[in-house]
Amino acid sequence: MARVALVTGGSRGIGASISKALKDAGYDVAASYAGNDEAAEKFTAETGIKTYKWNVGNYEDSQAGIAKVEADLGPIEVVVANAGITRDAPFHKMTPEQWQQVIDTNLTGVFNTVHPVWPGMRERKFGRVIVISSVNGQKGQFAQVNYAATKAGDIGIVRSLAQEGARAGITANAVCPGYIGTEMVRAIPEKVLNDVIIPQIPAGRLGEPEEIARCVAFLASDDASFINGSTISANGAQFFS
Ligand code: CAA
Repeated sequence: MARVALVTGGSRGIGASISKALKDAGYDVAASYAGNDEAAEKFTAETGIKTYKWNVGNYEDSQAGIAKVEADLGPIEVVVANAGITRDAPFHKMTPEQWQQVIDTNLTGVFNTVHPVWPGMRERKFGRVIVISSVNGQKGQFAQVNYAATKAGDIGIVRSLAQEGARAGITANAVCPGYIGTEMVRAIPEKVLNDVIIPQIPAGRLGEPEEIARCVAFLASDDASFINGSTISANGAQFFS
């Protein structure tokens, strides 16, 4: 029987590519999304991947959403915590709301996504937890104190979960994408993107969402069974850690 995979934020951007790559690799995929019904419907129509709406920043919503996915598809064996937002501002202009929104979605959202599926993974002695971090969690980024804090936090989460899950057959790893050609990156002012950011990428280009999705599909596979607590960086040589 096909393994069930959940991808949060799985109907757009990098998440959509991950959902498709996992489907192509034979998983039964559920993609959660927060608000864009139109994009989710289009994604389901195009791919046949079921979409579910909930706010990853809310624990009860996540629990209820995950219960619905499991009732429809079966126990979740692969969970990809991908949902994330930016609220960029230089620190002196960053508001407490911009801080909190990013913490709630990007960091608490990982807890809320993994915690409900963890007991089942422990019982069944198998699980794959993959968290989408960022190059900016590794190196920091101007105007991203909030975002960089959450993405650095992801690395601490997987390193801790790896130690707790290892004997129960669960691996937990992070993927750190560089700048990928999604709506999130294209929202950066064009001049900043072209004159500041792209020149910092030795590859001379943005990454493709599929280049991240392939990392995730590998970490989910049986081939990656001894990789635990690691981070895979895919950033066109922008940063090494
Ligand atoms: N490094 C150094 N200085 C920078 C800078 C950078 N990366 N970006 C902007 N600045 C400077 C500008 O040159 C300008 O300087 P001057 O005042 O001397 O001209 C100053 O900062 C702009 O300051 P403002 O107070 O006017 O800034 P603002 O309130 O208008 O905010 C901004 C602008 C939000 C910083 C905007 O430039 C921006 O979005 N920058 C990109 C931030 C970024 O890289 N975000 C990543 C998003 S993608 C992502 O997060 C996905 C992932 O995981 C990789």
